[in-house]
Amino acid sequence: VNYLVDKSRGEIVDTLIEGLQKLEYRGYDSTGLAVDGDDDKAFIFRQVGKVAALRDHIEKDLRPDTDKIFSSHVGIAHTRWATHGNVTENNCHPHTSDPNNEFVVVHNGIITNFRDLRILLKGKGFKFQTDTDTECIAMLFKHIYDTNLKNGHEVDFNELMKQVLYELQGSYGLLVRSSHYPGEIVATRKGSPLLVGVKTERKMKVDFVDVEFNDDPESQFASPNSLRFPSDKTAKPSNSSKFHKSQSRAFLSEDGIPMPMEFFLSSDPSSVIEHTKKVLFLEDDDIVHIYNGELHIHRATKEKGIPATRSILTLEMELAEIMKGPYKHFMQKEIFEQPDSTFNTMRGRIDFNENVVRLGGLKDWLPTIKRASRFLMIACGTSYHSCLATRPLFEELAGVPVSLEVASDFLDRSSPVSKNDVCFFVSQSGETADSMLALQYCIEQGATTVGIVNSVGSSISRQTDCGVHVNAGPEIGVASTKAYTSQYIALVMVALSLASDSIALRNRCISIIQGLKRIPEQIKRSLELEDQIKDICDKHLNGQKNALLLGRGYQFATALEGSLKIKEISYIHSEGVAAGELKHGVLALVDKDLPIIAIATKDSLLPKVQSAISQVTAREGRPIIIVNEGQKLQTNKKELAFIEVPENVDCLQGLINVIPLQLMSYWLAVNQGIDVDFPRNLAKSVTVE
Ligand code: G6P
Repeated sequence: VNYLVDKSRGEIVDTLIEGLQKLEYRGYDSTGLAVDGDDDKAFIFRQVGKVAALRDHIEKDLRPDTDKIFSSHVGIAHTRWATHGNVTENNCHPHTSDPNNEFVVVHNGIITNFRDLRILLKGKGFKFQTDTDTECIAMLFKHIYDTNLKNGHEVDFNELMKQVLYELQGSYGLLVRSSHYPGEIVATRKGSPLLVGVKTERKMKVDFVDVEFNDDPESQFASPNSLRFPSDKTAKPSNSSKFHKSQSRAFLSEDGIPMPMEFFLSSDPSSVIEHTKKVLFLEDDDIVHIYNGELHIHRATKEKGIPATRSILTLEMELAEIMKGPYKHFMQKEIFEQPDSTFNTMRGRIDFNENVVRLGGLKDWLPTIKRASRFLMIACGTSYHSCLATRPLFEELAGVPVSLEVASDFLDRSSPVSKNDVCFFVSQSGETADSMLALQYCIEQGATTVGIVNSVGSSISRQTDCGVHVNAGPEIGVASTKAYTSQYIALVMVALSLASDSIALRNRCISIIQGLKRIPEQIKRSLELEDQIKDICDKHLNGQKNALLLGRGYQFATALEGSLKIKEISYIHSEGVAAGELKHGVLALVDKDLPIIAIATKDSLLPKVQSAISQVTAREGRPIIIVNEGQKLQTNKKELAFIEVPENVDCLQGLINVIPLQLMSYWLAVNQGIDVDFPRNLAKSVTVE
């Protein structure tokens, strides 16, 4: 948004495009933007794929008009990672209320009551053009605006936003422009980040903005989350109108002189930093209203106890640091992102009330997958471990034999594959050469192929018949962490989809779905173990050359994955051992000095894990043991430490147990001064055989 700053339409587009490019590291599948057109209308451009493709598209179509100058304008732009609706141009943001683009919206997040809203809006005559939840928001703006108008009520843009928010459930970072409010923008957030960058060439006196609370006792915005539209009874004339009797800090003037201002709203400081380092981070339910070079912050709800000002901070960090946030390394950031990334994997896919899983990317293929005579899970590295962690559940819920394959070994054997096989390719990058070659081989054999991939648009996601994006967000640290937990969850969701028709398995599926619901919060709690883990590293593990990790059943994968993390970044030789195999050889290594980490959380195999622990302690081994919170283990007091983690369903417990091991590997590496994000000899994406 700018005010008293002359800019050509071409420059406005460039600013938006460059802002989007700064977000490319996050990954996305499509892009779009809206700029001021003529007569207060908006030009909208949308494009599937890269930001560069959007730029080309605009250059072709906008050419004759790029020189048009605006001294005040609003532009909005978006990169999308599909949740609702396929990756098509139609589903790209911005979304609009009607063919005249009266209200144009970009939105991060998910509107959970969008199905109800669609029905209501369809009943009011709205014609939906897309499959997205976002389109409802634009239409809701128009509908409520029109209703107010019909009733003779003039509402300002901020009041209108409040009325719309009253109808929305879910999470959002939301920007809205409208031909009815030229040169103005409203924005809000709930559970999705949003900040405002403020730029002016002249010195700005203010360093905070007052929040304008809604103290009107007759306010119509008192009870959120009930689905209703304003009726004649509830809507009332706005007393604020477009000319606010505002007490908020106005940026319009310093000593009464109008001041050229530019405002940059973004979900991420990285797209704002090149324009200004002055930013203001919004709280949930803040509504930003910018007009006439002024920035106002209102509240969508009436609750008390919210700070009354928003400080304008000066970002001291450079771009790369901002991307890392407060963390020292990407790996650490990604470990701590897991409460969010695991939630994002499930977002829009699991209905926790109905206990239903809906995977749009598999929908048309489920009957074929269910008919398979065998599943193959093919992957490398950490991705292989996510397959190992979920194989038992596939076998249990689908009742089909499952072969687990390291991609390179599978290729070396030219293992027989038939047309009745369904092959799952699990990969963070979607570009790993071994996995790609295995995929080509399976395609040649006529098998059905399914991709479980994090990188949207990657080779594996394009070449498989169908699939599930794990939606963990870009993973930059070489040692995979959040991709693992998200792949694991994506695979669990696939297994649940395969059992959707089974009455016999219904209760088991419900308990797993309810277990999944608890995962983000339980991961968050497990991350609080960091200090204890650091302490264990300091006391027992730093300087060691070897380590053994023991696990059984579901926890064998956790032992392998924990061991891989420790090897990869701390260069300590570690082995993940199936606890049942201990006595067949590895026991020979055990003495009082060898660090041993045993995973002994509660499941049906616990007695057997306990006997493995006894075998260790009987040889003077002194294990560190991962148990559930409050779990009493019968030991002979030789253990060095217990790490207590939250309890979940057996097949999901690995998602929790891996967290302390990720933290352990991280701190073991940091303590040695290793550059955690770039461990020697390793690459994030191995595109050679
Ligand atoms: C490399 C990475 C590992 C990763 C493996 C498989 O070795 O360093 O972290 O697990 O490749 O990668 P993919 O992208 O296919 O999951």
